[in-house]
Amino acid sequence: MTSLALANIETLVTNSAELGEGFLGVAHNQTLIVQDGLIHSIQREIPEGVDEVIDCSGKTVLPGFVDSHTHLIFAGDRSTEFAARSRGEKYSAGGIRTTVAATRGASDDELRKNAQFLLNEALSHGTTTVEIKSGYGLTLEDEIRSLKIAQLFTDETTLLAAHVIPQEFIDNPEDYVSLIVREIIPASTAKWIDVFCDNGAFSTEQTRTILRAGKDSGMEARIHANQLSHTSSVKIALEFDAASADHLSESTDSDIEALAASNTVATLLPGAEFSTQHQGKLGRRFLDAKVKVAIATDCNPGSSFTTSMPFCISAAVSLMGFSVEEAVYAATAGGAKALRRSDIGTLAIGNRADLAILNAPTYIHLAYRPGINLVDSTLKSGRKVSTWLK
Ligand code: NIG
Ligand code: FE
Repeated sequence: MTSLALANIETLVTNSAELGEGFLGVAHNQTLIVQDGLIHSIQREIPEGVDEVIDCSGKTVLPGFVDSHTHLIFAGDRSTEFAARSRGEKYSAGGIRTTVAATRGASDDELRKNAQFLLNEALSHGTTTVEIKSGYGLTLEDEIRSLKIAQLFTDETTLLAAHVIPQEFIDNPEDYVSLIVREIIPASTAKWIDVFCDNGAFSTEQTRTILRAGKDSGMEARIHANQLSHTSSVKIALEFDAASADHLSESTDSDIEALAASNTVATLLPGAEFSTQHQGKLGRRFLDAKVKVAIATDCNPGSSFTTSMPFCISAAVSLMGFSVEEAVYAATAGGAKALRRSDIGTLAIGNRADLAILNAPTYIHLAYRPGINLVDSTLKSGRKVSTWLK
């Protein structure tokens, strides 16, 4: 049995109303005890005989960020596409094919190293759980190898063979849908199935076919919904009891009402809104309607090349109408809900001691000091980690 005390925490965010004030469950001047990787207790005093004490005077401790939407298995660079957007070009789904070509040409080792590099960035910014999608392979072999590499880093893997119609199927898209259904889905070992349901990607009918096949083969649904145009993707999300509908930038009031009455989390992606210069105040509408909301990085080389959840928190606050508390909750407990996990995202007694220690007196600094990495250390199962481990 090993024990650790995070002592004299100036501000502790638990995400549990039972353990502190408000829905963020904020408490001050506390000591958090970790035993065997789990949260054991929260108290004023430092008990005798703990194996290790970390002094957190003047610091904030909060649940590690749960990044529930990333595309980390890829090769290549699309900085010129980003620069073109800065001159007025619009983001479109077609850019995905540039990354598909680079990814197919990369070795397993290159893809693994790139993912490890990005995950180390995420870790140094306080992320402790990450979901990773395939989607830049788009052949049976390349999708399955993308999942295998993702599985080196996380159990939260998602098959996104339905990311875009690959170039070689452009004149026969239905043949690609058949390949997904007949060959790629049966070979998939992912936990989740996702479809980019949008203009230039997959139609609503194709989306239903793919999600049905994925669910029949044991994967649970998530969906890229209403990113570039409005479709019936939210309706589809609810039909398939998707854990999460993501992006949602072009959603209508009736989509928002439907989500509010459902079990599906709305995952908003401030990094993508920021990097594609999309609309601003959208987030508030979801929050006011009491939809369950998560925020995630959407880290990918096209629409959002950031691994920083604190950056996404500050963009959610300054661009999308979140309060600081709502943004911090969405980046932690919200992400956990979007992955249907109850062992993370909240520092409740018995939960995993996955947490971030900030060099700041309050969590408000996450939004108040944009672009500054305030993370002192990140702990997974009560261990300080400096490189990403599964
Ligand atoms: O979530 N929308 C689809 N997929 C990614 C973008 C992928 C890319 O542009 O490479 C997204 O934004
Ligand atoms: Fe995405």
